[in-house]
Amino acid sequence: MLLGFLLVCAAVCDASHNFSIPNVAASFDSTPKPFEINVDPGFIEDTRRRVETARAPISIGDVDDGPTLENFTVIKDYWVNEYNWEKTQESINQRLKQFTAIVEVADDNATILVPLHYVHHLSPRDDAIPLLFIHGWPGSFLEVINIIDQLTNPPNTSLPAFHVVAPSIPGFGFSPAPQHAGFGPVKSAQAFNALMHQLGYPKYVMQGGDFGGMILRYQANMFPKNVVTALSNFWVLMPTEYDLHNLIVGSSSDEETFYITRSEGFVNNDNGFRMIQQTKPLTAAYALTDSPLGNALWVYSIMEIIVDPTDFTWMPDEIITWSLMYYIQGPYGGMRMYKEMLNDGAFSSVAFADLPIVSQPVAISQFPYDLAYGLPLDWARRGGNVVKCFVHDHGGHFASYEVPQLLLNDIWSWFGDKNNSGTGIFY
Ligand SMILES: *[C@@H]1O[C@H](CO)[C@@H](O)[C@H](O)[C@H]1NC(C)=O
Ligand SMILES: *[C@@H]1O[C@H](CO)[C@@H](O)[C@H](O)[C@H]1NC(C)=O
Ligand SMILES: *[C@@H]1O[C@H](CO)[C@@H](O)[C@H](O)[C@H]1NC(C)=O
Ligand SMILES: *[C@@H]1O[C@H](CO)[C@@H](O)[C@H](O)[C@H]1NC(C)=O
Ligand SMILES: *[C@@H]1O[C@H](CO)[C@@H](O)[C@H](O)[C@H]1NC(C)=O
Repeated sequence: MLLGFLLVCAAVCDASHNFSIPNVAASFDSTPKPFEINVDPGFIEDTRRRVETARAPISIGDVDDGPTLENFTVIKDYWVNEYNWEKTQESINQRLKQFTAIVEVADDNATILVPLHYVHHLSPRDDAIPLLFIHGWPGSFLEVINIIDQLTNPPNTSLPAFHVVAPSIPGFGFSPAPQHAGFGPVKSAQAFNALMHQLGYPKYVMQGGDFGGMILRYQANMFPKNVVTALSNFWVLMPTEYDLHNLIVGSSSDEETFYITRSEGFVNNDNGFRMIQQTKPLTAAYALTDSPLGNALWVYSIMEIIVDPTDFTWMPDEIITWSLMYYIQGPYGGMRMYKEMLNDGAFSSVAFADLPIVSQPVAISQFPYDLAYGLPLDWARRGGNVVKCFVHDHGGHFASYEVPQLLLNDIWSWFGDKNNSGTGIFY
């Protein structure tokens, strides 16, 4: 009895262990606490001053080298003269109900405490399904902002409704960066599963793109009794040696050729950021922690090329706000998630690796400006029980943000299909 008490105390007393986030008023407890973003105004002003004095690179004129000097000037001028963090912070706080909590995950024979920031909106519908939404890089929990209201309150009762939980991966947004190496997709999956349990959702569905679409494969694989089904808008799969051989000898289908060629194009032309972040993230973090404008252009260089320009254009305001979701606590923790992905086996050097097999029924959504577009269905099925594939003729990587209505339709269609998705157990 006494020993039991001491063990509980060891956990709880440890929970008063001071987790914090640089430049933000936040506290973390073993039970959920409401959270509003409240960044130190002195830090915001220091940031603005650094932008004001930012030094531009020389002009060589190769538009393929990264964001243009015009981008540098436009974002800089907007940041210095017009950007209003106070208003931005207030608007996010108003639109997204946020919380902090500490969850426990097993680490060999010990338990580690993981402080998390997350959005949690309850649906008024009593048949609502718990949905865990996970963001990616270079996004954040803000990726959920354009779909969350329609998920909790769909236009009519023939569509499924959801209680939505959208956490920040540790090191992103307002979840403190891990204090030690070793926190990758495996630990993230454990932490997010623990969060769902803490919130009273032992069974739930998942949705995500980018890292979210990768973490959900770990989580579904590790927690088959809890993750009922998922919809991924980033279901990647590497062609095998045999597939590549077929391409070389000219016996691939058009679809296979397209997918391999596109993946190779991305690896050869656009993947430099990942090579740095998965090998020497601290090297780049010195520069990006010191230069808010450099950090904004680092994330914009990827954001720019993976959205569909016919649907969507990034405004300076959004580029700054999205980049601040890294800059406020410092970008290093989020950047090095690539290294942890590699360590947990999600990447192999330049390629993606074989992600954990998902045996639950899942659906995938493909958008033409995203990397995972065009993956043949029979190849997709090598990664798990892919039952449904939604292929769109427009949209890109940040579907929830860029083309929210298209993704919402897929979410409603898949999770509303009780027989195929397995969501019948929620009714
Ligand atoms: C936590 O931080 C507060 C304020 O910085 C300090 O007063 C307190 O002693 C710290 N508690 C622990 C357990 O370190
Ligand atoms: C960045 O430059 C490109 C090429 O000129 C342009 O298409 C894009 O709109 C610019 N982005 C911003 C935010 O100014
Ligand atoms: C965990 O416990 C087992 C069994 O007691 C032991 O063999 C192992 O070395 C421990 N692992 C660590 C990392 O302490
Ligand atoms: C419910 O709303 C969806 C999306 O707006 C629409 O397609 C569907 O026809 C509506 N169903 C009913 C029964 O009103
Ligand atoms: C779903 O399954 C139930 C029970 O097996 C069956 O009665 C129903 O027709 C199925 N619905 C659809 C849309 O397939």
